[in-house]
Amino acid sequence: MKNYPNVTIFNHPLIQHKIAILRNEKTAMKEFRELIEEITMVMSYEAFKDCPTETVTVKTPLEECEQQMICDKSIAIVPILRAGLGMVNGLHNIFPGARVGHIGMYRDEETAIPHAYYCKLPEGIEKMTTILLDPMLATGGSACDAIAVLKERGVKNIKFMAIIGAPEGVSKVAETYPDVQIYVSTLDRQLNENYYILPGLGDAGDRLFGTK
Ligand code: PRP
Ligand code: URA
Repeated sequence: MKNYPNVTIFNHPLIQHKIAILRNEKTAMKEFRELIEEITMVMSYEAFKDCPTETVTVKTPLEECEQQMICDKSIAIVPILRAGLGMVNGLHNIFPGARVGHIGMYRDEETAIPHAYYCKLPEGIEKMTTILLDPMLATGGSACDAIAVLKERGVKNIKFMAIIGAPEGVSKVAETYPDVQIYVSTLDRQLNENYYILPGLGDAGDRLFGTK
């Protein structure tokens, strides 16, 4: 895959270790959920290194000092339903005051064309740093459509975070939206004939929620 200035792929050993357990078909639902949350949290250190902060005065037991604190009310977390839901707590634990919006999409099983079925976004989202979440970036159709929804609402500062990406999907989002920062913990080999990521981890929604 080409190098894109708006794409960050993580090859951090901590993430690789967790991805190995996540991929394993024997990993049960509880551990799968915990891993998705933990990987999201680890990725956020990089994704939010430009996070807006404000200066506050703090009194330690010894003296007063000035310290930076995150303005978490200016952050919106937007999972793509269903599987993106699994990533929300990883960020909400770090930004407890962040607002949460939801975009519902499902892929047609034969064509992989995404269909939107739900959208509820926080008031004032257009002024917020908005982080869109979906663990799987396969063809890129769902991510592109969700980004289009955010842009129609006037959101300017958009980050997109995925756990596993296929080269096809990463390229599609990176080229369609060069102004969106994309964070993918692991880049996989390819899509199969059913548009599933190889080697991947299977169906993230089903593994998170036990639907199969
Ligand atoms: C999965 C996944 C992404 C999408 C990625 O959702 O969670 O949203 O596919 O594929 P794409 O890049 O080709 O669009 P799915 O449609 O299976 O819905 P679900 O999360 O409700 O299971
Ligand atoms: N959605 C998933 O959950 N897994 C894939 O491999 C592709 C899309």
